[in-house]
Amino acid sequence: MRWPRAARCPRSPPAAGGSDLTGPVPAGVRLVGWGFRHADRRAWAVRDVDLRIEPGERVLLTGASGSGKSTLLHALGGLLEPEAGDARGELLVDGVAPDRRRSRAGMVFQDPDAQLVMTRSGDDVAFGLENVGTPPRLIWPAVDDALAAVGFDLGRDRATAALSGGQKQRLVLAGALAPRPGLLLLDEPTAQLDPAGSALVRTAVAHAVSDRSATLVVVDHDVEAWLPLVDRVVELLPGGGSVEHGPGWMPAPLRLPTRSPRAAGELLLSAEAAGSTHRGSDVPSLRPVDLELRAGRTTAVTGPNGTGKSTLALLLGGLRAPTTGRVVAGPALTAALRRPGRPPSRWRAAELVERIGTVFQHPEHQFLTGRVRDELALGPRRSGAAGPAATRVADELLERLGLTELAEANPFTLSGGQQRRLSVATALATRPRVLVLDEPTFGQDRDTWAELVALLAEQQDADRALCLVTHDAAVVRALADEVLELGTPVGVS
Ligand SMILES: Nc1ncnc2c1ncn2[C@@H]1O[C@H](COP(=O)(O)OP(=O)(O)O)[C@@H](O)[C@H]1O
Ligand SMILES: [Mg+2]
Repeated sequence: MRWPRAARCPRSPPAAGGSDLTGPVPAGVRLVGWGFRHADRRAWAVRDVDLRIEPGERVLLTGASGSGKSTLLHALGGLLEPEAGDARGELLVDGVAPDRRRSRAGMVFQDPDAQLVMTRSGDDVAFGLENVGTPPRLIWPAVDDALAAVGFDLGRDRATAALSGGQKQRLVLAGALAPRPGLLLLDEPTAQLDPAGSALVRTAVAHAVSDRSATLVVVDHDVEAWLPLVDRVVELLPGGGSVEHGPGWMPAPLRLPTRSPRAAGELLLSAEAAGSTHRGSDVPSLRPVDLELRAGRTTAVTGPNGTGKSTLALLLGGLRAPTTGRVVAGPALTAALRRPGRPPSRWRAAELVERIGTVFQHPEHQFLTGRVRDELALGPRRSGAAGPAATRVADELLERLGLTELAEANPFTLSGGQQRRLSVATALATRPRVLVLDEPTFGQDRDTWAELVALLAEQQDADRALCLVTHDAAVVRALADEVLELGTPVGVS
């Protein structure tokens, strides 16, 4: 979700009760019949939540995509400004309104880009420490400790703009942990991390709260992974209210689609020693790789954070030209092009949209209109396929992905999971023969995950090639014919 600039930065000047040198004191949280409705929405994002979290308690907050988890976390962090919407009921941190306790909260937003403010990595962590009044001589040692705790090994000076999504997520977590907040609020902190990185982040969080010096509220769909580290699970219900699950609780298993692998058909798109180096830097964001996308097949691209998976997706999607090697479209894809010899990065938008459908790592950077419905109509209109048939396809996609009620909403106000489903829907709307999807299941609950994976399974026909960039091992199991594992992280010494 998108917040006004001013509300995006969770760090504010120290207030009475902020962390000081005597050590942090965990915060208590109380909600009575609490609810919130965003300013431009008719439906309440969260309703009727009664919840008490004792100081030092560790709570995993789950719930369907769009059930209001991020909204609740922002409220606890004191970041819901009065003009953001209507609140009802009571929500107290340490017995007072949360905006009076902002400096008590350390928050990791769902979108790390919304949070990084400085150009150099170390400065970003130092900034938070300065804000809570840390004595200057203690700042840099604390920065180094925090970076080490989350496994951020690229050094203080690395430009934040040159970090991968997962590296940013770690940096933001370091920034949240460093000032030793009394209330740690984490919104899907491992969604962009590889399995090893996720485990490391959980360890860092567990360590930070092990002495119960901070109260933890973490939102994550990976319930199994967090269960051993939390005291209880609170699930927000889509219709309002919440339920509690004790320590032994397990969510229902994932529903996987059945599928029958096909033989590899004609070559649609290939990367030939395609690599990329950041402008103005000699650090490659992707070491040269070879990859063939053939009709009827699905290739998963996996590998640790920082190996260039998202860069590869941009190259294959024709959104960026490789700096070494090339990306070549096969005859089947270039047949009707005016200049079939050109690489996808030189195609016009209309040519691209009907041939290669893409979902970026950050769908919100991809939205171009102010309405969900318009967003879905854009591709078909560009490729000259607008009309009743395109409208029907769009309506069907909205229905399948649980977005029908949001058809008139502004894409930028959707929850993270809703945005991701919308971006997948827009990629599918023009029925391109190649789909390149970067973390398509990000932010999904079990039901939306299953629906999304089923929808992707339906795209696997004899004519089309799918390329899925993902950390989600279940997606790989459910859909992939081939796996390209990118190697050791580039740019890490
Ligand atoms: N800034 C906003 N403006 C309007 N509606 C919003 C905004 N942020 C979230 N919403 C809506 O509120 C509901 C809850 O969203 P969110 O708290 O992000 O859910 P979750 O984190 O559980 O996926 C969703 O229907 C979402 O579309
Ligand atoms: Mg969310």
